[in-house]
Amino acid sequence: MKFFLDTANVEEIKRIAKLGLVDGVTTNPSLISREGRDFKQVIQEISGIVSGPVSAEVIGTKAEDMLKEAYEIAEWAPNVVIKLPMTEDGLYATHELSQKGIKTNVTLIFSAAQGLMAAKAGATFISPFVGRLDDIAVEGMGLIHQLNAIINNYGFDTEIIVASIRHIGHVEQAAVAGAHIATIPGSLLPSLWKHPLTDIGIEKFLADWNKMQSK
Ligand code: E4P
Repeated sequence: MKFFLDTANVEEIKRIAKLGLVDGVTTNPSLISREGRDFKQVIQEISGIVSGPVSAEVIGTKAEDMLKEAYEIAEWAPNVVIKLPMTEDGLYATHELSQKGIKTNVTLIFSAAQGLMAAKAGATFISPFVGRLDDIAVEGMGLIHQLNAIINNYGFDTEIIVASIRHIGHVEQAAVAGAHIATIPGSLLPSLWKHPLTDIGIEKFLADWNKMQSK
């Protein structure tokens, strides 16, 4: 399973990339605005740190505007991926871009039908939002199982990025479901390797070791 970082914070990406855990990065307009910096500069800095795919989202809602932005963003770095919303215009733009060999990530996917449409349009990645589904009392992980089956049934090249991850259970369940990628907020990442019993175990081993030294 590949791990993407779901952040636009360059310092956070630099720190976590050193652990060899970052296969790519996803951003969205909310994450970019949180940084309060120039969009292009942020994406270029991230693309220089991480060699894998870096998603940058268009703002336009009409296909024409999306494509105009997409062609510009695609020039920013060789590993940039154009993130587009799951709408009719977004599908049209996705298809156009895929015909030209430009990588796309169709975002805001909340149903299996939406995922199927995006895959058929030629999306490189699709981003189903599990956390936001859980928020409305719909089990988000069920969608990941459905999308995985659809992609395998028809041999689509599209990869699933499990997005809107809120806790480590989401990452574990996404891995069990066979999703290609989980995009994880940097703040959540340490909880993937930390466990209280590990800390207690280390403390006990050291205490026992020190007892022997003082004999
Ligand atoms: C990533 O591609 C998504 O934009 C992100 O995971 C959304 O997460 P949120 O639902 O916590 O905002």
